[in-house]
Amino acid sequence: MKTLALIHPLFQCLSFLVGAYNFWMGLSRKGFTYRRHRGIGTIYYAMSLLGLVGGWLLARWLREGGVELHLGNHLEVAFLMVPLFLVAASLGLILRRRPRLRSALLPLHRYLNLATLLFFLLQAYTGFSALFRLHSYRY
Ligand code: HEM
Ligand code: HEM
Repeated sequence: MKTLALIHPLFQCLSFLVGAYNFWMGLSRKGFTYRRHRGIGTIYYAMSLLGLVGGWLLARWLREGGVELHLGNHLEVAFLMVPLFLVAASLGLILRRRPRLRSALLPLHRYLNLATLLFFLLQAYTGFSALFRLHSYRY
């Protein structure tokens, strides 16, 4: 049971790395092509959302098995991240189609994506804290 509890955290670590790489690629323009950036961006959003559903299912299953989780505001932050993903992705798509709006939309796209990565770090903090507690208990 404890081992299965690791699936979601490890998966989300991978999602974070994909997003951080895309962010770096956007800023540095190293290896940047629109197709590549959009492709990796879509993988980041899809993995994060899939991870959200996985975490929610795993947490439910663990609780049903009598495991007490101390996740703080992990669930609330997760739901806050969903609209951020949607708006950041939409801005990326609009950016491409409306070059005249570039100067207004590019910073928004950049900072919203940065916000998703910072929320990821907060999720990692609350998530790993819960996991360490879980692994120091005997049940
Ligand atoms: C559906 C997915 C995405 C689309 C369609 C998209 C689209 C775009 C477009 C069109 C640009 C402007 C390129 C240019 O004209 O120079 C851009 C820049 C950028 N994107 Fe994305 N993007 C997506 C996902 C992401 C993700 C997931 C991240 C990071 C987590 C990200 C971070 C950035 C950054 C940092 C820039 C450069 C901003 C700047 O120069 O200030 N994007 N993106
Ligand atoms: C590296 C980052 C993360 C870590 C270490 C982490 C860790 C955890 C842990 C330990 C759980 C308990 C269930 C389980 O063991 O699978 C959990 C639940 C959950 N996680 Fe994460 N997580 C992370 C990122 C995220 C992100 C980015 C999201 C949302 C996009 C998310 C959404 C959820 C949700 C919705 C739950 C269920 C919460 C509840 O029912 O109270 N997690 N997470």
